[in-house]
Amino acid sequence: MADPIRTTALTLKAGGEDRIRALDLTLSARGTTVIMGPNGAGKSLLLRLLHGLIAPTSGTIHSTGRQAMVFQRPVMLRRSVEANLLFALRRGPYAQDAENKCREMLTEISLNTRAKQPARSLSGGEQQRLALARALSLGPEILFLDEPTASLDPTATLAIEKTVQRSADAKTKIILVTHDQGQARRLADEIIFLHNGQLCEHTLAAEFFEAPTSQQARAYLAGQLVL
Ligand SMILES: Nc1ncnc2c1ncn2[C@@H]1O[C@H](COP(=O)(O)OP(=O)(O)OP(=O)(O)O)[C@@H](O)[C@H]1O
Ligand SMILES: [Mg+2]
Repeated sequence: MADPIRTTALTLKAGGEDRIRALDLTLSARGTTVIMGPNGAGKSLLLRLLHGLIAPTSGTIHSTGRQAMVFQRPVMLRRSVEANLLFALRRGPYAQDAENKCREMLTEISLNTRAKQPARSLSGGEQQRLALARALSLGPEILFLDEPTASLDPTATLAIEKTVQRSADAKTKIILVTHDQGQARRLADEIIFLHNGQLCEHTLAAEFFEAPTSQQARAYLAGQLVL
């Protein structure tokens, strides 16, 4: 099991402005943390910082363990669906049984009939499903998901949520960004609410939806908050 993720005074400047402002966070090593907040709040930047893809301007991040991320806009290799998945599988704990695991995972995400198709010709939602399978094939202890169902239909959304929940049950730490309040209610153990790069609220999911403590979160949930 991965250690808890900790940040102290985490700050990121970009384009001459503070985009992430002195965040002190401790995320439990288990369960699902959902990050919410309006467009431009800094959610994607925070995920990239936690995953180590960008360096903070100041402050510290402690986050260890095998990690994988599904990006808001997934990038597919210029190869077939199957080759995209095999590429990841051969680098993870399923390397010895990559071909079988690949078939199994493609069936699970309903892309088994598309195995030979170029991955870049998949629809947006299909690419997101493949991106999730690719991330899971690395056997992550921490899985970062940036709006993984933003362009999916309701059936595909529930399929992704089921896969995410199964990973959480198998003790993968999930850190998920979403604007979908239903999804947050279904999956979250705790909520982090960001606004303008600042941490407004970090509470248990049940408390957040029952009675958000910050004025910003109340306004957001009521559809009244813009950056
Ligand atoms: N490289 C950069 N240079 C300048 N500004 C940046 C850079 N990257 C991000 N920003 C700005 O930082 C802010 C936070 O961006 P981020 O992508 O984290 O938002 P977000 O909360 O994920 O929003 P969304 O819900 O739209 O995905 C935005 O205002 C964005 O324009
Ligand atoms: Mg984003």
